[in-house]
Amino acid sequence: MDDLTKLLNEAEHAVEQTESLSELDAIRVDYLGKKGRFTAILKNLGTLDPSERPKAGAAINEAKKQLAKSMGERKAALEAAALQKVLDDESIDVTLPARGPSSGGLHPITLTLQRVESFFATRGFQVAQGPEIEDDYHNFEALNIPGHHPARAMHDTFYLKKPYPLADKCSRGEEGGRAADAGQSRLGRLLRTHTSPVQIRTMEKGEPPLKIICPGRVYRCDSDLTHTPMFHQVEGLVVDEGVSFAALKTVLTDFLRYFFEKELAVRFRPSYFPFTEPSAEVDVQCVKCEGKGCRICKQTGWLEVLGCGMVHPNVFDYCNIDTQRYSGYAFGLGIERFAMLKYGVSDLRTFFENDLKFLQQF
Ligand code: PHE
Repeated sequence: MDDLTKLLNEAEHAVEQTESLSELDAIRVDYLGKKGRFTAILKNLGTLDPSERPKAGAAINEAKKQLAKSMGERKAALEAAALQKVLDDESIDVTLPARGPSSGGLHPITLTLQRVESFFATRGFQVAQGPEIEDDYHNFEALNIPGHHPARAMHDTFYLKKPYPLADKCSRGEEGGRAADAGQSRLGRLLRTHTSPVQIRTMEKGEPPLKIICPGRVYRCDSDLTHTPMFHQVEGLVVDEGVSFAALKTVLTDFLRYFFEKELAVRFRPSYFPFTEPSAEVDVQCVKCEGKGCRICKQTGWLEVLGCGMVHPNVFDYCNIDTQRYSGYAFGLGIERFAMLKYGVSDLRTFFENDLKFLQQF
């Protein structure tokens, strides 16, 4: 029966070509189903001579069995391939590094503050704090800042309208010294413009020897690329017998080299602050170009980073500290400035925009 062989070949070829179980099932229906092609041939048996019928019938059944077997094999192959695909898709590369939970990090200003504090802690300084809402007396007057000083002007300082209560009452300043006759102006409230009032509060409360740093927020009516209305300062104050300008120079030089991790040159330029005498501004060799001149140092080779000086006798008087016995030095620095130089940040405002893409780099 040539037709039968042809049909079987055709069917087996189709089975080999199938790529899916549903295609395979369609072939099964097409060839072996009730209305399938093999069934049609079986139905034709009646037209044959009765003597030939058993042989032809057996041949057809044999062909059907053969086809069913091929289909079974193909089905097993397709199922195995499908399973393999699932396994491949779901496979885990155990050699990949683990992705841990993302944890928060410290703000660059905090990191910088910690760095500053860690240096001064090793030199025996203690951390002191004071209120951000200050009175005129502690922010200006006791610091020997006269009434006509530009820092007192409305365009530099945020004044508060209502009389806000202070965090703690000044003690010695209330009772004696020059503070007693300071009058009404000392009661005006403002956002502290520097951390120097903490010097006054510390000297009011404690007796020398005093050795403190005061980190904290300060406020000035200013906003551009290098100024924000709120920023951070660290104040330093040492009061004891025999405190010298040489000691001040040593500690600040050591600090700058520690902070920038380089043996940079440091220079002290005569300057003026009402609450120190003599006063100096401290420059450090440019951390970027190391003195050659670049954009950061405006081609000067130097960066101005600190204000300092010997505590003015008038300030000691306000705090009832014996100027015959004690001397002291003070310094102040801006944390944002140090953070910008340390991390190469050119726009100060980015520190306060809370953009995670920026903050996550630290
Ligand atoms: N308070 C000064 C400022 O804000 C800095 C300073 C502090 C200078 C202590 C000298 C001594 O600019």
